Amino acid sequence: MKRRLNAIAIDGPAGAGKSTVARRLAERLGAYYVDTGAMYRALTLKALERGVPVDDEAALVALLGETVVAFGGPNAEGVPTVLLDERDVTQEIRSPRVSGSVSAVARHPGVRAELVRRQRQLALHYLSAGRMVVMDGRDIGTVVLPEARVKVFLTASLDERARRRHEELARRGERPTYGETLERLRERDRKDAEREVAPLRKAEDAVEIDTTGKSVDEVVEAIVRLVEERLFNS
Ligand code: DC
Repeated sequence: MKRRLNAIAIDGPAGAGKSTVARRLAERLGAYYVDTGAMYRALTLKALERGVPVDDEAALVALLGETVVAFGGPNAEGVPTVLLDERDVTQEIRSPRVSGSVSAVARHPGVRAELVRRQRQLALHYLSAGRMVVMDGRDIGTVVLPEARVKVFLTASLDERARRRHEELARRGERPTYGETLERLRERDRKDAEREVAPLRKAEDAVEIDTTGKSVDEVVEAIVRLVEERLFNS
């Protein structure tokens, strides 16, 4: 039988609630949480700051070679801090500027190969120390940790995802119209699903959960039940 890892892979489109659910789930389970999107975002921020074109794969791979992305303890909002070369960029990587360019960076095979390698290494490090790992992204169940014991594919209607994203932006003092938020989300969905390397798709053995109209707690509970079935009964 294929070796299985005590990891929970959470994939799905932007705005499906992955990071909130994954973070809460990790707290509940005492697991180590890895937000893989933050790693693509951190590289994108550095590229924008250095003027490295987001369509220049070789330059991005070289930049990544001299870049350290790490996760620190939780900030005041309970969100793990994202450190780009030791600088706290937790807020900056969520800016519209980074969100607008990150798909272009994430489509390069060379960038993905190196980030997938780092993500896997990080997960295996904590797993080998006996920790459970929760990882969220687009290709965790399919590429990064195909041996994860629990795989979840979170979805929500486009309207609901746009509404959540809109509220999140408003909390940060940004004021795009709802229509603009919806269009940006639709565009990012299209780019993430259509790219040639590791496009967003549900792993065959993933359980799909539609979060439309569900609270974070309800979704977390549903995943905890899956974890109990798969991790503790085998
Ligand atoms: O989940 P997020 O919005 O922070 O992800 C940012 C971008 O990075 C998103 O456009 C898709 C990409 N991404 C990816 O291609 N693979 C991952 N494992 C995580 C994110």
